Amino acid sequence: MKTIITYGTFDLFHIGHVNLLRRARDLGDRLIVGVSTDEFNLVEKSKTTIVPYEHRVKVLESCRYVDLVIPECSWQQKVEDIQKYSVNTFVMGNDWQGKFDELKSQCSVVYLERTRDISSTSIKQAMAVLLQLNRELQ
Ligand code: CTP
Repeated sequence: MKTIITYGTFDLFHIGHVNLLRRARDLGDRLIVGVSTDEFNLVEKSKTTIVPYEHRVKVLESCRYVDLVIPECSWQQKVEDIQKYSVNTFVMGNDWQGKFDELKSQCSVVYLERTRDISSTSIKQAMAVLLQLNRELQ
């Protein structure tokens, strides 16, 4: 049994997330996703989400590539999670290239290429532009 783990916010679940999760799952037999809690996002990433933590968990649990969803509450928990779940491979998109290389003492670390031209941020920006346009048309 080869276990893969990845972490992220996964707000406004989109095709970049799907591709990342599919390719991560393809690397093994079981995929665990650590989802950033609202508090972790706010305090550690200075980020707020449109979709609350509990809903992001439900969305990820309904994705066929995801076997288990756990909360991400701190930067330090990764070593503990890797040991607790006997993780073989830690995966992140390559916007994090090199950032988690210290975990190579625990398991293999893989950075997958991001899907181009899509992000939660770009969707929020497009929504803001559309809202403004609709206001102007009314
Ligand atoms: N990801 C990806 N391709 C994208 C967007 C995200 O492969 N186009 C990956 C990230 O590299 C990360 C995971 O999906 O490993 C979760 O990323 P997250 O930060 O939740 O997604 P973003 O859309 O990048 O969010 P934001 O715009 O808030 O940074």
